[in-house]
Amino acid sequence: MEAAPGKWIIDGTLGGGGHSEMFLKAGARVTGIDRDPEALAHAGARLAAYGDRFSTWQGNFRDLLEIPEIREGGKADGLLLDLGVSSRQLDSAERGFSFMRDGPLDMRMGPGSPRTAAQIVNEWDEADLVRILFEFGEEPKSRRIASAIVREREKRPFTTTLELAACIEKAVGGKRGKTHPATRAFQAIRMAVNEELESLAKALDAAHQVLRPGGRLLVITFHSLEDRMVKRFLRHRSSRFVDDPGWPEPRPNPDFQFELLTRKAIQPSASECNLNPRARSAKLRVARLLDTPA
Ligand SMILES: C[S@@+](CC[C@H](N)C(=O)[O-])C[C@H]1O[C@@H](n2cnc3c(N)ncnc32)[C@H](O)[C@@H]1O
Repeated sequence: MEAAPGKWIIDGTLGGGGHSEMFLKAGARVTGIDRDPEALAHAGARLAAYGDRFSTWQGNFRDLLEIPEIREGGKADGLLLDLGVSSRQLDSAERGFSFMRDGPLDMRMGPGSPRTAAQIVNEWDEADLVRILFEFGEEPKSRRIASAIVREREKRPFTTTLELAACIEKAVGGKRGKTHPATRAFQAIRMAVNEELESLAKALDAAHQVLRPGGRLLVITFHSLEDRMVKRFLRHRSSRFVDDPGWPEPRPNPDFQFELLTRKAIQPSASECNLNPRARSAKLRVARLLDTPA
């Protein structure tokens, strides 16, 4: 990120404020965004000692262009998106993200999320359940799980995380592997509840309008669909030319805006994964906005 005094960094996913704190310690000014008011209150209090070098904005990072300083023409030196849920969210039973802790079937990251997990599980058509389980969860047993959910909810609607986890475990059957059988399904439902891929697509699209020339975009993903989206986006936006089999020669790319700084994603070392097992699937990609983007 090259955080330093005089730089302004937007942390699009404030969460517990760990990354923001590193940027602040390096002397930068930081605006922390989160859709979760609880995260803003917690991290805001923790980072209050940095005074007016730290500010917060509650909202979805897909609306980056709505940040007051951006609306007034300000440009940031860096933008970080560290996707997914935070450890705090995952560990609070009452938020309903965890299949290990009993809580209401909620999974909303914040009040702006359009629906709860209970609405999806109890109201969506079986075909839509299959689709999200397969697409967002990459769940090979999506049909079997969706059909079990529909049969179960006809008897009684689902209200808690453990009821849903037990139904999925029964539907999947067999011996338990290293990961809980409901892992993929819970991830898929969470992504649908919070429209996570749509938000990412919009934020990536807005990045070049938010950064000053030379500013850096850093994205950390934890899911192959998200990583693919970031990888394709950066590959396209950092290509000087585009080609098509029907064209006599490559043409200049009108979307050429970034220089890719990570040809391959940066992944955590084995020792980092030992210290923080939740980092194991993280992939970081970094790009720099060109001085004269197309
Ligand atoms: C993985 S955590 C970030 C952890 C943070 N980097 C830290 O150091 O503690 C992701 C955070 O981003 C928030 N978040 C996820 N998607 C968001 C979105 N579309 N808009 C705003 N905040 C979002 C979540 O509510 C969560 O608090």
